[in-house]
Amino acid sequence: MKTVQEIKVLKSALSNARSAFSRVGLVPTMGALHRGHLALIQAAKSQCDFVIASIFVNPIQFNQPSDFENYPQTLEDDLKVLEGQGVDMVFMPSIKEMYPSSLGVSLSFSHLEKILEGKFRPGHFNGVGIVVAKLLHLVDPHVAFFGQKDLQQVHVIKALVVGLSFDVEVEVVPTVREDDGLAFSSRNIRLGKVEREKAPHLYEALVQAEQDLKTGQPWSHVKNSCRKSLENSGLVELEYLALVRLPEFRLSEKYEANSEFALCIAAYLGGVRLIDNVIIRPTS
Ligand code: PAJ
Repeated sequence: MKTVQEIKVLKSALSNARSAFSRVGLVPTMGALHRGHLALIQAAKSQCDFVIASIFVNPIQFNQPSDFENYPQTLEDDLKVLEGQGVDMVFMPSIKEMYPSSLGVSLSFSHLEKILEGKFRPGHFNGVGIVVAKLLHLVDPHVAFFGQKDLQQVHVIKALVVGLSFDVEVEVVPTVREDDGLAFSSRNIRLGKVEREKAPHLYEALVQAEQDLKTGQPWSHVKNSCRKSLENSGLVELEYLALVRLPEFRLSEKYEANSEFALCIAAYLGGVRLIDNVIIRPTS
């Protein structure tokens, strides 16, 4: 496995990759790898004959400086994991390499900026969009892999790919969860013991809300009881719980069984912000 830190080296190493391999796959990450990331790597390995992963804790997508400073970094272990999975190349640039001077460009993603993650994390999607655009531009993969865990991010990236005419397929990998339902996240290791015990409530609440919607209860009712049950469980400070119509990713106040929706949640547990979602597929 080749590790590359410089853009110049990356470009020359990949100069004929797109013609030399029938399918080059890119898996962008911020490191601190867990089983969710592994599912993306495994999907890439099964579909591609050349897999490149990136590890870069992208400062411009963090809207809270403390979140950036506390972001876990486990580079040595990450490289061992990637090597064990048969990844061909890892791009792990420094901040200076990716952002040599102050940025003179910004991106915005229409309604996606104004709701949920866009609303509560101002500037976040600009940062995600810029770094993913840079990676797509530098690597020029046939396919790039992203997790359903960050569902709104997937929609931002799809908008980026269509809007800027990147010649890449976006592959979405289902969320990987711990045995108790908690979605794997690099931030989980920052949860204290008590918070970790409460954390599966987020997914349980989503599953319950999905069932309630499917039995015909109105969204306003479902939302209230879901909020109450989370509040009663203690420690969980709900930021949002939303019904989202897909594929547009627009907030909805009404569930319809013949359309696709998602339930999205964000909550703080002892200062650690977690997000999760479930997709409700149409029944007919
Ligand atoms: P990061 O949080 O490291 O996640 C990298 C990829 O792994 C993302 O596509 C994310 O959705 C996916 N992922 C995380 N947890 C997952 C889980 N439990 N199951 C399945 N997939 C999961 O997301 C980012 O980094 C960054 O925003 C990035 C796209 C790399 C741009 O900086």
